[in-house]
Amino acid sequence: MPELAINGGSPVRPQGYPAWPVWDERDLAAVEAVVRSGNWGGFPEPGPNAASFEEAFTTYQGARFGILMANGTVTMEVALKALGIGWGDEVVVPALTFAATAYAPMAAGALPVIVDVTQETWTIDPDLVEAAITERTRAIVPVHLGQQMADMDRIMDIARKHALAVIEDCAHAHGQQWKGRGAGCIGDFGSFSHQSSKILTAGEGGTLLTNDEALARRAHSIIDCGRPKDPDEKDYTFGANYRLGELHAALLAVAMERFPHQVAERAENAEHFEELVGQVPGVRIMPHDPRITRWSFYNYILAIDPDAFGGATNEVVCEALGAEGVPGEVQYPPMSRYDLFQPSLSQLPVAVEFADRLDPAKMSFPVAEAAGLRESIYFQENTFRAGRQGVEDAVEALAKIQRHANELTVRDS
Ligand SMILES: Cc1ncc(COP(=O)(O)O)c(C=O)c1O
Repeated sequence: MPELAINGGSPVRPQGYPAWPVWDERDLAAVEAVVRSGNWGGFPEPGPNAASFEEAFTTYQGARFGILMANGTVTMEVALKALGIGWGDEVVVPALTFAATAYAPMAAGALPVIVDVTQETWTIDPDLVEAAITERTRAIVPVHLGQQMADMDRIMDIARKHALAVIEDCAHAHGQQWKGRGAGCIGDFGSFSHQSSKILTAGEGGTLLTNDEALARRAHSIIDCGRPKDPDEKDYTFGANYRLGELHAALLAVAMERFPHQVAERAENAEHFEELVGQVPGVRIMPHDPRITRWSFYNYILAIDPDAFGGATNEVVCEALGAEGVPGEVQYPPMSRYDLFQPSLSQLPVAVEFADRLDPAKMSFPVAEAAGLRESIYFQENTFRAGRQGVEDAVEALAKIQRHANELTVRDS
């Protein structure tokens, strides 16, 4: 008789986990009010709901200025453009992240220079950042991946030493704080995504945070077809329409009201999860960096040792977890596996011009490759919104799969 649910055994958690996004009458009322107002779009920029969300999120995260726009990809493109970064420039990004982190420099015309992540945190390796700097380097884009934050002390030191800009990719890090400062408020810009699965969502959307008034004004201008944002400013900035509509902005303003409670709930349950899951044979949890002073995350990421799972990779273990009723996913392959870097597919001028440097066959990121292709499991945010029992079931599912690893099908990664 098989034990694992993927082979017909009984699942550990047949009832599953709470749905995302969370919504109630307040969301319906907010959307209805926008519909009735007839003011659906994002022009004039920012609209009233956009301005109110920008104010609330900026205050919560601890920045001076917030600019709401279409998504968390164009945020980074706009940030680079606002900083004057484009053709001929190099931007250092990590090898383990969503494609958007490297797409944004390419869309701005710059070359993404990809470096590996550290084994301890799976965030960008500061030593490799420093080694990658050339006279063309203009910016670093650290990604705060999962429950981790990139080492912002080291990144900011390197940036200051080499006069580089820093754009924090905070798509996973709404609510996180580093030594009391909000994620996205430490570098020149912080970029947030409000896409469907993210923990502060309206289905789509993105926010840029900055403490620099001139950069904020320029970013507003770039997303609003270049319109000047200073009454004394006469010249148009080169821009296009990246505005977000008021229906989405209204949903974000309501989501913001629930957000602090959800952050605290996930953090509390994740602490319990960490105490238990680290005891499962073949599971490695990352050190909890004490410099992260408010813990908030989109996914909780851990590593499995495939040898302890009968040779099965993260992909196979995640399928088995899904069958047990637990939302574990293999989120990102290493950057070298993204089609984005195949010039014949993207046809972006920067990719064609620098085809040699963006050739996946010539890339080597041992840590990101092991993580993405064999080891990483991303537990979804709702694992941590089902009380202590929810995380205990998730741990039991993983432990059960490990105990019965002989039932798993081993495939090549
Ligand atoms: C690390 C990271 N950066 C950027 C993005 C892009 O955000 P969006 O989907 O809103 O464009 C995502 C979203 O998936 C992400 O996970």
